[in-house]
Amino acid sequence: MYIPEEKISEILNTSDIVDIISESVILKKSGRNFFGLCPFHSEKTPSFSVNASKQIFHCFGCSAGGNVLSFIMKYHGITFPEAAKMVARKYNITIETKEINPSKRRELHLKESLFRLNKTIMGVYFDGLKNLNKGEKAEKYLKQRGISEDTIEQFRLGFSIDNWDTIVKVLKEQKISKNIAVQCGLILERKQKNGYYDRFRNRIMFPIFDINMQVAGFGGRVMDDAMPKYMNSPETPVYNKSRILYGLHAAKQFCRQEGLVYIVEGYFDFLSLYQHGIKNTVASLGTALTPDHVRILKGYAAKMVLVFDSDAAGINAAKRSIKIFMKEGVDTRILVLPEGNDPDSYMVKHGPEAFNALASNAKTIMQFLLQVSIDSHGLSVEGRIRILDDMKQQLSLIQDSALRSLYIKELAENLNIDEKAVLEKVREQYLKHNTKKLSWIDEKKDEEKPESDRREEQMISMMLNCPEIIDEIKNSEVLEYFYSEKLKHIGKKIISVDPCKKAFITNVMARIANNEDQELIASYAMNSFFSEQDVHQTARSIINRIIRVRKRKENTLTSKIISAEKGCDSELMELLKQKQAEIQQLQNR
Ligand code: UTP
Ligand code: MN
Repeated sequence: MYIPEEKISEILNTSDIVDIISESVILKKSGRNFFGLCPFHSEKTPSFSVNASKQIFHCFGCSAGGNVLSFIMKYHGITFPEAAKMVARKYNITIETKEINPSKRRELHLKESLFRLNKTIMGVYFDGLKNLNKGEKAEKYLKQRGISEDTIEQFRLGFSIDNWDTIVKVLKEQKISKNIAVQCGLILERKQKNGYYDRFRNRIMFPIFDINMQVAGFGGRVMDDAMPKYMNSPETPVYNKSRILYGLHAAKQFCRQEGLVYIVEGYFDFLSLYQHGIKNTVASLGTALTPDHVRILKGYAAKMVLVFDSDAAGINAAKRSIKIFMKEGVDTRILVLPEGNDPDSYMVKHGPEAFNALASNAKTIMQFLLQVSIDSHGLSVEGRIRILDDMKQQLSLIQDSALRSLYIKELAENLNIDEKAVLEKVREQYLKHNTKKLSWIDEKKDEEKPESDRREEQMISMMLNCPEIIDEIKNSEVLEYFYSEKLKHIGKKIISVDPCKKAFITNVMARIANNEDQELIASYAMNSFFSEQDVHQTARSIINRIIRVRKRKENTLTSKIISAEKGCDSELMELLKQKQAEIQQLQNR
């Protein structure tokens, strides 16, 4: 479903964010803002704020933020069009779907067909399991693995009967295009090109739902030791493996309630935990977790626990995933199960209380990595040096400086090595891989950087709060002088919205697809960095400063190049020229 931009504007202009959020959060007025307990992280004192005149929300605690539509999406775990429809309904705004460009329409149409077919076939598999003769052994199998009737119902588990053409026949009967079924990965063309056959045969079938409860794909398990154990749908326009997590559609409300999500690997691991009441669980389906997975989960829970088998494969999978969690700065624990168990078998053997007890003792990332490293190197002097070598790589990946220093401290304490020495190692490691990027490592040398960031943030904050300066921003082309690509991008979005529009800030947000950027905008809009007295004068002075500093920096660079040339310092010259080219490239963009 596609909703035209004017409609979105109408919804944003008509709705009232205080009204809407009050339905889910108790808000109290305090100064210019309303405050309440944040629904996106657990807290005891309110840091969740809503501003009626700007029509935005922002949490000073977890930095969730956005406009009324982002709130609805995040709170209910629904898509943008669904959120728009929901708000529109409340304000009696009718949404008639408008004509969209043909290629977009074809894409939407294809997706709808794929979803529809998957849903139909899910029904076929579900019936397969209930089929008195043919489904019997599958039912037995599920029973023997401890899966209840309710779980089968809720997750629509099924069985693909041992035939080559069950699905092919259904397609024929219902006059469904073979082409769509091939794209879904449900049937395959025979080598001789004289017909088609079913992909899934004689397997327990697990429909994979997306967050909106639509069937994106399937996994199928054999009931004996045949290979491959599991077979899965291929990637399709509706099944993006780097984004879908099995079970999230059912688990999301529990993840939010608990503020925590367990991440397991397999279908049965998920089902077993869920069935035993540990419902804040999702499964990665054996594929490596991606940054997208983690970002999606962040929308539901601040804390994540990775549950792994204790075998070498499990440990390696944990090590691989950890990097992503560190980069995303998520509070992550690692739960390694006792030898010989996976989450499913552990749950079946020991039950939920035992699992909860284990989980409450899950290791921090550092403790886990350290343990793995100690297990392989020992704690002799040489061992500890090797451990430090192992750990510095992981540590250099952490972008958040506060988090990084916490970890460094923890490691130094655990190894009984001086904290400064650990820090030095991590710096070395970082520099080895990031020769060009100036970042936290150069904190001291590059004092210009945070300064410039602050000015650019101030500029953005002003643009959001005082749209009357937008013309000046456009004329001065100051955005071209921004160091931060992110802020430049946001700035450009802001000037693309008509500043005379009502609900200006929320209209800006509506143009930004990226959730993180939306949150940034909310925080800049809430934090007014300036006094509102002489807006134009303040704006002009920030504009001038941004442009002047950038130009001066380049001039210094040029003069350094000239003197390096004179002094024949060719290495330095190369470096400087490289820097200059980089700066020019930035500006030409
Ligand atoms: P596991 O081999 O650990 O299986 O794979 P499991 O989940 O414990 O399954 P059971 O308990 O033996 O039935 C973990 C996950 O990796 C994916 C599946 O999603 C599986 O649940 N996988 C595994 C595949 O996609 N293909 C395979 O051949 C094996
Ligand atoms: Mn298992």
